[in-house]
Amino acid sequence: MSSRVLERPRQARRRTAHDIVPTAELFETGFVRNLFNQLAPNYHWHEQMACGLTNRWRREAVDLLPALPPASVVIDLMSGGGEMWPALRQRLGPAAQVHAVDFAPAMLAQARARQQQAAQYARTTLHHADALTCPLPDEAADALVCGFGLKTLAATDFEPLARETRRLLRPGGSFVLLELTLPRHGWRRAAFMRYLRLVLPLIAWLSRGRAALHRYLPFYAHSFANLDAVEGAFHVAGFEQVRQVPLLLGCATALVGRKPEELVGQGLDFGVSE
Ligand SMILES: C[S@@+](CC[C@H](N)C(=O)[O-])C[C@H]1O[C@@H](n2cnc3c(N)ncnc32)[C@H](O)[C@@H]1O
Repeated sequence: MSSRVLERPRQARRRTAHDIVPTAELFETGFVRNLFNQLAPNYHWHEQMACGLTNRWRREAVDLLPALPPASVVIDLMSGGGEMWPALRQRLGPAAQVHAVDFAPAMLAQARARQQQAAQYARTTLHHADALTCPLPDEAADALVCGFGLKTLAATDFEPLARETRRLLRPGGSFVLLELTLPRHGWRRAAFMRYLRLVLPLIAWLSRGRAALHRYLPFYAHSFANLDAVEGAFHVAGFEQVRQVPLLLGCATALVGRKPEELVGQGLDFGVSE
């Protein structure tokens, strides 16, 4: 299984994200879950090394949601250690109900610890589940957010993700999906890659014995590149007002959209579209 790849013996030369050979195995559920279970204790280093940028992007992404009622229901998909929650609570207040969904028990353990430390997260329910098959009823949510969870999905998962989002949102509900992206223009892309090359070895060093694991996140970010294919899947699923919003010159991008209010009589097919 996948852990075979995670446990390669150390080599003399420091390995980088560019040494990882892209294979389908890297996008399999078992591999990704295993990776995040092992990364969980040190996942916060990525936040520290990004000098607060990722938190800023989370806030900017959440701010793209339309106004929501105080007691709204929001799903935090691929929620990790609850890194989206400060932005969500700042925007929604304490009365909103947040459902956090993640399939890696060690990341959920970090989320549980965060929840126990702050009363503002009392109305948060953790679900140990796959994001593509959430244990929540149809039309459960007013909004759905996802922070940095897309890059480890296989491209074949994008349409199932869009269909699951459509199932979970009430008519008129909105989503925002945030992910690291490569700036489209030359010098911006070069500057971003240079930044990654400087910062990521530092994260690897700080995480000591887990350095090899930390090569994977830049690998996924680099191979993901942009949200075009995800945007296409959400168009196919019938969402409206779907658009990409570049953050900091495209170093991250938020994909936003809305499930139409009226599903009948607008030529929209919200039946299962296999
Ligand atoms: C890069 S972390 C992002 C965590 C957090 N949302 C943030 O803003 O930093 C990606 C998370 O998605 C989870 N994940 C990846 N694929 C998943 C899937 N198919 N179902 C559920 N969780 C998934 C991983 O376990 C991990 O906790």
